Amino acid sequence: MQNHKRPPASLIFIFGGSGDLNLRKLTPALFNLFLDNWMPEKFGIVGIGRSEYSDETYRSHLFEGIKKFSRRKEETNGEWADFSQHVGYLQMDGEDAAAYSKISDIVKQKEREYGEHPNVIFYLAVAPQLVPDIASKLGPLNICADTKCTRIVVEKPFGHDLQSARELNQLLSTMFDENQIFRIDHYLGKETVQNILALRFANALFEPIWNRNYIENIQITAAETVGAESRGAYYEKSGALRDMVQNHMLQLLCMVAMEAPVSFDANEIRNKKVDVLNAIRRIDNSEVQDYAVRGQYAEGWMQGDKVVGYRQEKNVSPQSNIETFAAVKFYIDNWRWQGVPFYVRTGKRMNSKSSIITIQFRKAPSFAFPPEAANSWRPNRLTISIQPEMDIRLRFQAKRPGQNLVLSPVDMIFKYDDAYDEHEPEAYETLLLDVMEGNATLFMRADQVEAAWKIIMPILETWETREPVDFPNYLPGSWGPEDAEALIARDGYNWLKLSPPHEE
Ligand code: BG6
Repeated sequence: MQNHKRPPASLIFIFGGSGDLNLRKLTPALFNLFLDNWMPEKFGIVGIGRSEYSDETYRSHLFEGIKKFSRRKEETNGEWADFSQHVGYLQMDGEDAAAYSKISDIVKQKEREYGEHPNVIFYLAVAPQLVPDIASKLGPLNICADTKCTRIVVEKPFGHDLQSARELNQLLSTMFDENQIFRIDHYLGKETVQNILALRFANALFEPIWNRNYIENIQITAAETVGAESRGAYYEKSGALRDMVQNHMLQLLCMVAMEAPVSFDANEIRNKKVDVLNAIRRIDNSEVQDYAVRGQYAEGWMQGDKVVGYRQEKNVSPQSNIETFAAVKFYIDNWRWQGVPFYVRTGKRMNSKSSIITIQFRKAPSFAFPPEAANSWRPNRLTISIQPEMDIRLRFQAKRPGQNLVLSPVDMIFKYDDAYDEHEPEAYETLLLDVMEGNATLFMRADQVEAAWKIIMPILETWETREPVDFPNYLPGSWGPEDAEALIARDGYNWLKLSPPHEE
């Protein structure tokens, strides 16, 4: 077992304790931390919800989730019994202000049991509209005044637009210090995403060419094969732009585009990211069609199975104009990136599940080889595959073996699976550990969230006021609407095709 410093005693209250996020992600993550010896020596987890459970039935319910969703479904080695002794359930109506005293009682009781005051963490794994009310009722509790030990974790979406995000930030700031607020964006917890910083700033090789002089364009794709699933009601209020672009996609863009931090201090990293967001060129409402494309999936076939269109999904309006696909071209107006387009796209029911970043370098400035040598010559390209494949590939030209002089592209590949024996932790494991340790580096600061909303507001406003004329406009299993191809083709490029992986 690795020898490492574990976080201090922690007591985690999960609002939405009987909900899906806890079942699929949070409890499996906490249990995996426990199996890897990363949980504090003294800890407690209290699920809070309206549903009726005893501690025992709640634990069995969570164990079903482990068996279905954990990255270690099988190998729990009987340790669930130990872990689950730390888990309890508090049946409580989050709207009932008087009930919150039960939380204070539990904290006091645990304090006595542990012989010390633990970190108290409130994880709000609830529908976004419930967040302000729960936060307002938590705020007045005495424990929340403890700015060192008490933390609140807020899931995305953080607000519904710029205005509501500002209001929520404002509300939270009346009760919590900024360093107590952990706004989660689970993409930042992914190993491959964290590795972008290592690639860029722990190697002398890439940084000198990481700019407009050498890079022609950058593409960021997060494609999913799933549809709205059981989340129609949520998705109807969200759409791809709010659900993915405002947060995950812009965060990826920041990791690729940020300047080198002078330290790994949480605020330093976040300052550098916010600089990127502030430098993104504002799209005027009148030019949204030149920069952004929306799509909605029709009914069709996915891998031999018939699937319904978005408008036929459960809890979705048959006339819905919500976008399930979004592609946006961004420019970053600073010295490093002036004139380099960043193409970002995301969608549901697409050809394959794949999150990938492509750095397309410029062509070699002069080309001395005879034309017949270079029929399949391609410029250099760096591809960072975030999921499901986890690898980094650098494409360069090589001479094919033989007497003829023929050049063709080859890939230099770093694959996580080949390079390391360790299993990479899930994003939520990393992020929950960070919360217990009080490390906010991978969490969104108030100004970051607002800056990201500011960027997408013109697109949101335009799409809300102008009805799409062609919805549904893409087939399941495709790469989105034709207009998305046109968006990039206008600039003389094309989206990197992702299936089969990494082919031109
Ligand atoms: C969530 C979105 O934040 O991210 C979902 O709400 C989306 O709609 C999910 O499916 C994608 O996450 P991942 O980790 O599977 O890429």
